[in-house]
Amino acid sequence: MAGPVDTYAVMGNPVAHSKSPVIHTLFADQTDQNLRYSAQLVDIDGFKQAIDEFFGNGDLGLSITLPFKEEAWQLAQKRTSRAEKAGAVNTLWQDEHGLLHGDNTDGPGLVADLANNRVTTKGARVLILGAGGAVRGVLEPLLAGQPVEVVIANRTRSKADTLVEYFGDNAISACGFDEIEGRFDLVINGTAASLQGEMPAIPGHIIDQDTCCYDMMYGADETLFNRWCREQGAGKTIDGLGMLVEQAAEQFAIWRGVRPDTGQILDLLRNEMA
Ligand code: ATR
Repeated sequence: MAGPVDTYAVMGNPVAHSKSPVIHTLFADQTDQNLRYSAQLVDIDGFKQAIDEFFGNGDLGLSITLPFKEEAWQLAQKRTSRAEKAGAVNTLWQDEHGLLHGDNTDGPGLVADLANNRVTTKGARVLILGAGGAVRGVLEPLLAGQPVEVVIANRTRSKADTLVEYFGDNAISACGFDEIEGRFDLVINGTAASLQGEMPAIPGHIIDQDTCCYDMMYGADETLFNRWCREQGAGKTIDGLGMLVEQAAEQFAIWRGVRPDTGQILDLLRNEMA
């Protein structure tokens, strides 16, 4: 007789918009893994209780989304080094001793999607816009790709300074939007500006035809940031849907030991959104 089905979920607030259930279910179908993956809306102050109940039921793994990634980091009893540095956890699972493990797959997701799009970070001059959790979460895996320089530009300069101090890597520096100098090979938007329908106030001279622009946000239509970059003459623009699929694939590999074929799933999602 078959045992109970392996169960996974994403926890967030809000969570109804999350594409994780669709993505992980497609991964499971593709790799013949028998599992169920759902979305759980969690009260803002009920996160610890929710994960205790989840793992108490014998359920196996969680994706964590806003606003609980920092709390998940605190509650994880063991963290990978990339999660440690990120200050946020988006993946939780328990080992055979009941120890709660936390990882952050956002950075590897970004790096994998850049590679899929044949964007090289080694030796590249990289500009990152924003200095919040989204940027902190991806910095270490990005630095591991050995860019020659990473400039973190933020509307509030002091937050970029804090991030640079924290990472303490010679390749990183901080500036305000009006202090950005020179051109870049790769420009990554990690700000929340587009949530307010705004474009970070950056100068157009940072972009030329050899610049790749990457928006960590995505949508059915071209993002505001990517449209602006294209209008400045960027040779390539990429949105964050591929990063979303890749960070999920990394979670799936951690939980199931099997790596899905992300290209097929990304095409499916892209078509569904269009
Ligand atoms: P997240 O965890 O998603 O990164 P966050 O920690 O609130 O969210 O950070 C949001 C980032 O987007 C910050 O870098 C923020 O800039 P400030 O530090 O100056 O607040 C940036 N941001 C938000 N709205 C913006 C806008 N309209 N223009 C430029 N940057 C913006």
